[in-house]
Amino acid sequence: MAHQTVIVVDFGGQYTQLIVRRVRELGVYSEMVPWTLAKEKIREVHPSAVILSGGPRSTLEKGAPTLDFSVLEGLPVLGICYGMQLMANVLGGRVETVGQKEYGSRVIGPGKNGKWGKLLSGLSSHKVWMSHGDQVLAVPNGFVQTAGTDTCPIAAMEDLSGRRFGVQFHPEVTHTAEGKTILRRFLFDHAQLKGDWTSEAFIEEELARIRKKVGTKKRVLCAVSGGVDSSVMAALLIRAIGDRAVCVFVDHGLLRKDEARQVVDTFAGHFNANLHAFVEHDRFFNALKGQKDPEDKRKTIGEQFVRVFEDHANELEGCDFLAQGTLYPDVIESGSPTAAKIKTHHNVGGLPDWMKLDLIEPLRWLFKDEVREVGRRLGLPEEMVDREPFPGPGLGVRILGEVTPERVRMVQEADWIFRSELRSRNLHKGIWQSYAALLDVKSVGVMGDERTYEQPIVLRAVESEDAMTARAVNLPFEVLELVANRIVNEVSGVNRVFYDLTSKPPATIELE
Ligand code: XMP
Repeated sequence: MAHQTVIVVDFGGQYTQLIVRRVRELGVYSEMVPWTLAKEKIREVHPSAVILSGGPRSTLEKGAPTLDFSVLEGLPVLGICYGMQLMANVLGGRVETVGQKEYGSRVIGPGKNGKWGKLLSGLSSHKVWMSHGDQVLAVPNGFVQTAGTDTCPIAAMEDLSGRRFGVQFHPEVTHTAEGKTILRRFLFDHAQLKGDWTSEAFIEEELARIRKKVGTKKRVLCAVSGGVDSSVMAALLIRAIGDRAVCVFVDHGLLRKDEARQVVDTFAGHFNANLHAFVEHDRFFNALKGQKDPEDKRKTIGEQFVRVFEDHANELEGCDFLAQGTLYPDVIESGSPTAAKIKTHHNVGGLPDWMKLDLIEPLRWLFKDEVREVGRRLGLPEEMVDREPFPGPGLGVRILGEVTPERVRMVQEADWIFRSELRSRNLHKGIWQSYAALLDVKSVGVMGDERTYEQPIVLRAVESEDAMTARAVNLPFEVLELVANRIVNEVSGVNRVFYDLTSKPPATIELE
C-alpha cells in the first residue's frame, strides 16, 4: 500500500476498533490485526507505527496473548492498558494483579519527579478512563514512569529513546480528556507520520486498485439495493471503469416511498450508469400471496431475487466480477482478512448458484461513517448518503401478516410522514433506524361519526451503535402525537398508531 499504516494489535480489548477509528480520524490509515496474526502482518505491511490494544486477560496468565517484540524493533510503539502491561512484562519490568479491578474515571498527574515525559509533556492533570485488573509496578530498564494516579502509580511510561510508550488508561475513549492530544502526539511528533489519509486519497487509491484488478476489458456486476453501502460501491466502480460497471437494481416493490425512483434517477440520470433496473413488483407480490410466516416471507423474497437474475441472465452475461459493499466491521467480525468467492449477496437476497464471480469489495477497509464521506465525495445525493440501514427484504419484514400492494402502500405513506416529520425537526440526527410498520390485527375507532374497523401502524425509532443492542428514542410527545394524527387522517386503512418502546434485547429492531 502506498499510504502509511498503523497496525493496531488486538489483544481482545473492547475498545480496539475505537483505536483504529481514532487513528483514522487523525488522517492516518490504520488496520486492526488479531494478536495471533500480528507478527506476520507486521512483517508483510512494514507499518509506520504499532499500537498494542487493551485486553481482558492478565499478562501473568499461562498462555496469555503475547507478541514477539523482535518484529517491533525500530518501530514507534504505543501500548494501551494490556498493551502497556505486555510491554513491561516482555521488556523486563514487573506487572502484578493488585486487589480490586479499577474501572472508571481517574485523574492523572505527572510522574514522580514532577515531569510528564515526552508523550504527555505540557499537559495538566486531567481525567482519564481506566479499565484494568493488573498494574505495572516497575518499569523495564531504560524506561521512566511519566504519570500516575492515586491508585495506579505507574499510569504511563516511556523509554528514553522516545520510541516506546505505554499508558494504563484508554486515550481512545472520549472520557479521557486529553486522549486525542496523546494519540496525535504519538502519531505526529514521535512516529512522525504525515496524516494524509483522506477520503480523496482513499478514492484515488481504490480506483487504481480496481482498474488494475479488472483490466481494460472485463465487466463487473454491481448489485445496488438503494442502501448506502451498495450505492457508494457502485459509484466507485462507475468512476473506475465506466459502463463496464454493470449496475443491477431489482425493484421488488418493497422499498420505502420514492426510493426506487431515487436510485434510478441517481444512477441512470446523474451518473449516466449502465443500469439495468428490473421492476418486478408483480413477481414478488404473487410469490408472497397468502404467506404470513416471517421466515417463509424472507425465504420467498430471497428466492425471487435469484429468479430475477436467472430470467435476465442474457443481459448480465459476460461479467467476471461481482462488486459487493462489505464494510470493515464485517471483515473484522468474520476474522478473515482475505476475500473468498461468494454465491450470495447479502444486500440483494441471493444470486443463482451458477453465477460464480470473483469478488471485489472496495469498501472492505472502511467504517460506515467513512463510507458516507466517500459517497459524498463521489457526488451521491445527501438523501442517499445519509440513509439509515434498511433490510434486504425491505418492507416485507415490516408488514406483519400478508404482504399486499395495499398494505405496502399504507406502510410507505405512514413511514414517509413519520420520517419527514423527524427530518424537518432535525430529530433524525442520532437515530439509528426509524420506520413505520403494520400490525396484523384490526381495532375499532371512530371517524366523522362513523365506526371504523381498521389496522394499526407501529412507529419505531431506535438509537444504536451497531444494531446488536438498541434503545427506543425518547421522541417529544408533541411530535409523536402530531405524526399519529397525520397518519390516521392521511393514510386510508389506518385508525390507530402505536410507538414501540422496547429495547433490543429483548425485542429486535425489526418487527419480524
Ligand atoms: P434486528 O431486527 O435483528 O436487526 O434487530 C438488526 C439489523 O439488521 C437489519 N436486518 C436485516 N438486514 N436482511 C438484511 O439485509 C434481513 O433479513 C434483515 N433483518 C434485519 C435491521 O434492519 C437492523 O439494522
